[in-house]
Amino acid sequence: MVHKVIVETTINGDPVELLCEPRQSLLEVLRDELDLTGSKEGCLTGDCGACTVIVDGRAVCSCLMLGAEAAGKHITTVEGLANGATLHVLQQKFLEHASLQCGICTPGFLMSAKALLDHNPNPTEGEIRYALAGNLCRCTGYDKIVKAVVDAARHGVGASQHGKVPTESTAEVTRDILEREKR
Ligand code: FES
Ligand code: FES
Repeated sequence: MVHKVIVETTINGDPVELLCEPRQSLLEVLRDELDLTGSKEGCLTGDCGACTVIVDGRAVCSCLMLGAEAAGKHITTVEGLANGATLHVLQQKFLEHASLQCGICTPGFLMSAKALLDHNPNPTEGEIRYALAGNLCRCTGYDKIVKAVVDAARHGVGASQHGKVPTESTAEVTRDILEREKR
């Protein structure tokens, strides 16, 4: 029988108690144990950033951290960005700037960008590019992603602010992006 450990942590503001194997990564725990499938599995070696979450205020590759290490930490995943059907400003700006195609990299970019803007609400373009350097995208190129983050910063994204209520025309796209994050 596989030995499991009890982990008490906080995820997206909610206290969570879970059982996981000591060998399981935080990414595996999020996806396989908690059904939080927004964080994506890419390289599993810390190179692509698709699995990025925020742990105690820092962007972290969840494939490189053990689930057991989440004990006592405050973790934010991409599922914690939107407020119901209301997208976070960063998500809204990614849509407006067409900053995603297949979307596999998008949760990681969003979380790295959020970690940056939480600490530095008015970054230069160079600082944005530096903060996103650990996130790889094979579809869009990076300019549209950087433009979305610049625009979000211009709209005063603070630590926990959300975007405006979507208009009817964006509501369908909003549902689509939230659905994609679940896959
Ligand atoms: S899956 Fe974690 S960095 Fe690529
Ligand atoms: S949108 Fe496909 S990898 Fe970035």
